[in-house]
Amino acid sequence: MKHLIDIKSLTNDEILEITELARYYEEHVPKGTQKKKKAGSTALLFFENSTRTRFSFEMASKKLGFSAFNFDAQKSSILKGEGFFDTLNNLNAIGCDIAIIRHSKEGFIEELSKKEYDWGLSLVNAGEGQSSHPTQALLDFYTLQKHLKTVEGKKITIVGDIIHSRVAKSNIELLTRFGAHVVCCSPSYFEDWTLTNAKYEPVLKDALNDADAVMGLRIQKERIETRVPYAQYIEDYQIKESNLPKKAILMHPGPVNRNVEIEGALLDSKRGKIITEQARNGVFVRMAVLDLIYEGTKR
Ligand code: CP
Repeated sequence: MKHLIDIKSLTNDEILEITELARYYEEHVPKGTQKKKKAGSTALLFFENSTRTRFSFEMASKKLGFSAFNFDAQKSSILKGEGFFDTLNNLNAIGCDIAIIRHSKEGFIEELSKKEYDWGLSLVNAGEGQSSHPTQALLDFYTLQKHLKTVEGKKITIVGDIIHSRVAKSNIELLTRFGAHVVCCSPSYFEDWTLTNAKYEPVLKDALNDADAVMGLRIQKERIETRVPYAQYIEDYQIKESNLPKKAILMHPGPVNRNVEIEGALLDSKRGKIITEQARNGVFVRMAVLDLIYEGTKR
């Protein structure tokens, strides 16, 4: 792997290699840093807000022994008019090995990766517009494997703002490739008809029926111009202890808007704990991604 562009660009074997290496890191480096430190460096370029992805990439970098540098767009020369490609070109010259990028422009990482250049710099997609968030899907897959053993034949229901969710799109791509039956549940204004791999079920009770895992999604206010009927949404689509099937595990990529997509009491209960476990698993999965890229492309 030179870059991590999206789930489509990974083979099933590469996905399994990432989750196997993540398991190794979870077992061997649960705390602190690994003994044989890597000499590489990562640059974290986040042009949209983030807590989990940015911190876990930074944590993953440090646990591997990398130096991690946070790029502050507001203090950078981008504000003096320097373009993004030229910025990366200079980070490469300075000696960064991996640029971890979150950006609102869809297809941006792929576009950058196709430019003719003589870089050692690798690019990692840390969330791109509404279209892809590959490391979130990888850590969700890792979490599902831990709890369900396999996703093959399992019913995985995704509830909420599907159309604006890059997490839903990357998860549908990955999980259906491994044989999961993905059901999307949302009001019509959050539906995405282009997602033909998943079944659409607008009634929450039917979507949740017999689910093995339920993923809640946040309403992405920052991407919505029209008014969302919150009270009606909560009445029809909120996940609660009373409607979550007993056998189902509860997941959410975060950030959660408490008492909107998931009832606060359910979040605080034992069943809500897998959501913070997802954030923790993200560290090990991102260690695996950075390691495979670095070892595969070491100068
Ligand atoms: N799941 C996720 O991407 O969270 P952040 O936006 O906090 O990184």
